Amino acid sequence: MIDETTGALPVEGVPAARVLDEIRALRAADRPTHGGRLFAYVYDPGVAGLDELAQAAYAESAHVNGLDPTAFPSLLAMENALVGAAARLLGGGPGTSAPDVVGSVTSGGTESLILAVKAARDARPDLTEPRIVVPVSGHAAFAKAAHYLRVALDPVPVDPVTLRPAVADVAAAIRPETVLVVASAPSYAHGVIDPVAEIAAVAAAAGVRCHVDACFGGWTLPWLRRLGAPVPPFDFAVPGVTSISVDLHKYAYAPKGVSVLLHRDPGLRAPQFFAYADWPGYTMVNPVIASTRSGGPIAAAYATLRHLGEDGYLRLAAVTRDAVAGLADAVRAVDGLRLLAEPESTVVCFTADDPGLDLFVLVDELTALGWHTQPQLAYAGLPASVHLTVTAAVAPRVAEFGPALAEAAAAARAAGPVVLPPELLALVGSLTPEALTPDLIGGLAAGLGLGAGPAPDRMAAVNTLLQAAPVRLRERLLAEFVGLLQRPTW
Ligand SMILES: Cc1ncc(COP(=O)(O)O)c(C=O)c1O
Repeated sequence: MIDETTGALPVEGVPAARVLDEIRALRAADRPTHGGRLFAYVYDPGVAGLDELAQAAYAESAHVNGLDPTAFPSLLAMENALVGAAARLLGGGPGTSAPDVVGSVTSGGTESLILAVKAARDARPDLTEPRIVVPVSGHAAFAKAAHYLRVALDPVPVDPVTLRPAVADVAAAIRPETVLVVASAPSYAHGVIDPVAEIAAVAAAAGVRCHVDACFGGWTLPWLRRLGAPVPPFDFAVPGVTSISVDLHKYAYAPKGVSVLLHRDPGLRAPQFFAYADWPGYTMVNPVIASTRSGGPIAAAYATLRHLGEDGYLRLAAVTRDAVAGLADAVRAVDGLRLLAEPESTVVCFTADDPGLDLFVLVDELTALGWHTQPQLAYAGLPASVHLTVTAAVAPRVAEFGPALAEAAAAARAAGPVVLPPELLALVGSLTPEALTPDLIGGLAAGLGLGAGPAPDRMAAVNTLLQAAPVRLRERLLAEFVGLLQRPTW
């Protein structure tokens, strides 16, 4: 495999076929990106030939540079086409109440959200301490944006039953320094749609921008609505919504590295741009964070959208909706499990009400059976839960999932909950991030089986330990544990 003495750079070049064999051998340890058994990270439509098309389109434009749209008009044309398609799907464009929508293609949801915050911040240069209002169910990327851009974050709690923020709480959180108010359509963790119209109204009343994070749902909710689902207004049809993000590498089923950030008009987008002429090199203008950008993801997304078309997305949405219903039924059928929210989009999220059924053990048991789900730690009065991102490729698997879930639940009950030494729990419960030393981190990691190699098959102990830690310590431990993994191959 990878040469221990040279890393990726051998003294003499390795033949192409062998290099590909090496990559395939490495890939064998990965979670399965296709086949509908991985309920996070990947979005698989299960459409024959689509991967090949996207790969060919990617290869066509991989070396094209988005740095300069005048040098590579092909990329500009494809970006404008993607933005136009997203805008039309989300209530903008000619003949709508948002005829002047503009946008940018970014590398992903996080970049889109960082740029939405940057545009809002830089539209208010008069403020020395700008702030953003974000429900706690909003994606963590808003906290990252706040951190990177030195903007203060005002979190709004969510109701433990509806998992939505109260509009009065959002309104109360808006201050004179607030530059942006956020709503999710839907939230990633639970898949629930915030009261966008009401949130946008309180933001507009305060003269503040309102961003709708539709990174996850922006490419499914419109099709689900056309299929008859009661999707509340969440797009540019809602007065007061100033920007929307939608990830094409999620439910548009494009390969990774592509999202769209839309603004209601060019004036709102203007502060997003960075231009610089005060150096002796080329005058630089970047609409997004990256400067040099590969055309590969953009061309692949363009090919994917054009090939699937409206009828393709409608069909995939119908299949996904039915898969969601089937998975939700499978959860309801297991004693001790409870849906945390009735599915409104393409997420199934459940918790356990029975102390004898440890969710983290259940997740490990499902993994052992070949089903890869995503555990979510208890947080701010919300219980631990299991998240399933459901894509079209799951549909043919639904009938197998129910028995697997029942079997995993029985095994988890039989194994019993994770029991960590009380002194370890006490230590983690009281430690501050500042008190962590390299020795302590090394000891904790070794005790949990975390180290340089792949993560252990069973993660219940790690999740239990993290859950016992206060939030700031969780963050620090995660960073330290991942730091242990990210070391060069010598
Ligand atoms: C609602 C929402 N916003 C933002 C993001 C961040 O997207 P990315 O991982 O592409 O940066 C995600 C990712 O799951 C999401 O679900």
